[in-house]
Amino acid sequence: MFFERPDSGESCVLVHINITAEKNQEDLTEFEELAISAGAEPVALVSGSRERPESATFLGSGKLEELARVRESHGAGLVLFNHALTPGQERNLERELRCRVLDRTGLILDIFAQRARSHEGKLQVELAQLRHLSTRLKRGWSHLDRQKGGIGLRGAGEKQLELDQRMIGQRIKSIRKSLNRVHGRRELGRNARQRAELPTISLAGYTNSGKTSLFNRLTGASDYAADQLFATLDPRLRRISLPAVGAAILADTVGFISHLPHQLVEAFKATLEETVAAQLLIHVVDAAGARRVEHIEQVREVLAEIGAEDIPQLVVCNKIDLCPELGPRIDRDANGRPLRVWMSALTGAGEEELRTALGEWLGYDLRRESLVLPPRQAGLRSRLLARGCIESEAVDERGNFHITARLSPAESRRIASLEGCRVRPRKTMAADTTVSAWPKIRYNSALERKPCNGDSHGLE
Ligand code: GTP
Repeated sequence: MFFERPDSGESCVLVHINITAEKNQEDLTEFEELAISAGAEPVALVSGSRERPESATFLGSGKLEELARVRESHGAGLVLFNHALTPGQERNLERELRCRVLDRTGLILDIFAQRARSHEGKLQVELAQLRHLSTRLKRGWSHLDRQKGGIGLRGAGEKQLELDQRMIGQRIKSIRKSLNRVHGRRELGRNARQRAELPTISLAGYTNSGKTSLFNRLTGASDYAADQLFATLDPRLRRISLPAVGAAILADTVGFISHLPHQLVEAFKATLEETVAAQLLIHVVDAAGARRVEHIEQVREVLAEIGAEDIPQLVVCNKIDLCPELGPRIDRDANGRPLRVWMSALTGAGEEELRTALGEWLGYDLRRESLVLPPRQAGLRSRLLARGCIESEAVDERGNFHITARLSPAESRRIASLEGCRVRPRKTMAADTTVSAWPKIRYNSALERKPCNGDSHGLE
C-alpha cells in the first residue's frame, strides 16, 4: 500500500551521471539489469558528467530540461536514477518532470520486495522499506508545507504526518516482534548444528556471481538459479560431504551489490548471521565479469559492515567456462594453503578441486587421535569410516575397535564423552596452522587494479 514500484512492463528513462568527484562509479549495465529485474522497460538513457550533484535536483538545469524532453517524447511514466537521491531531490525532480522518480536505493528495495519468498524475508524487506519511507515521509511533508504555505494546510499536513508516522511506527514494532520470534527459531537451529559439531561454510558474493548455482552443484539441490539480480533472499542450509572432514553445512545467502541500501543491511542482519557464524566463507566471484575486482572490494565492505571480515575466506573464481584461457585449478599461498579455486558451477569443471580445498581448509583443525570403541559403537565406527577419516584400525578379541582417526577437537570430546569410548591424542596434524590462525587473504591493491591478463585474470 505504501510502496511505489514500477508496474510490469512500464517504460522508464534511466539516468546515469558520471560524478567525477566520487571514486566508485556505478555500473551502467548493472543498472539496466536492476531496472529490468524490477519489471520496468528502459526506453531511453540520459547520461552525462558533472563534478558533484546539484543539491536541489541532482542534475543541472540543462540536463534536467533534456531529461524532461526525453521522458515526454517517449511517454515514460517513470524515471530511474542510478544514484542515491535525497528525499528533497526526489520530490523536486518529481515536480519538475511530472512523473514518478525512483532512486537506486528505492529500486533495490523494490527488487528485494518482489523476490522475498519466506515469511522472514518479506518481513525484513518491509522493515527496510518502512524505514526508508519514514525519512521520506517526514521531509516530504515539510516540503509540501513550505510549498503550500498556509497555516491551516500546515496543520492538516502535520496531523496527517503524525498519523502516518504513528502507523508506520506501529507496523515497525509489530514486524520487529515477529522477526524476533523467527530469529529465536533460527538460533535454536544453529545451536543444534553446533551441538552436532558440524562446521558451517557460508557462501558470499556479489549478486549474480553464481552462489546459488554453486550451492546447487555442491548439494545436489535444484533450487532456483536465475539470471536475475537477487534471486536468493532467504538463507538456505544443506548438508554436504567433504573429503576427510565428512559432513558440513553449506549456507546460501543474499547476494551483495554496490551501495547495498543501509536499511537492507540492517534488516537482513539476522539472515546474514548465518554468514557471521560460519567457520569459512566461500567468496564467489564472477571471473568473467568486467568489474570483478570492484565487486570483490564491495563484498568485503558489506562483510566488514556485518562483522564477518575476520572469517577465513576461500575465493571461488566462477564461470571459467566463459573464459577459454582459464582451466580448473587451485591457487595456493607459499605454505601450500588454498587461496582461490577456479571453476564453473555450470559445467562442474573444478568441482573436485573445490571439494579438496574445502576439505583442506576445515581439515587443518583436525588432529590424529587413537580411539577405542566398544562393539556397541559399531554405528559410530561405520560413520567415521564412511567419512574417510579412519587411517587404520584393528579389532581385539573382545570386539573393541582400535582406531586411528583424524578428528576435530570438538568431535574428539564428544566421542570421549560416549559410554565405553576412549580417546587418546596421538599427534597434532597441523597444530600451528589451525584455520582460525590463518591470516586473512589480502590482495595487493596495485595488482588488483590490473586489467584482465590471461592466466591470473587480474585477481592475483
Ligand atoms: P543472487 O541470488 O542474485 O545473489 O545470484 P547468485 O549469485 O546466486 O547467482 P546464480 O547462481 O543465480 O547465477 C546467476 C546467473 O549466472 C545464472 O544465469 C546462472 O545460470 C549463471 N551462472 C552461474 N554459474 C555459472 C557458470 O559457472 N558459468 C556460466 N556460464 N554461467 C553461470
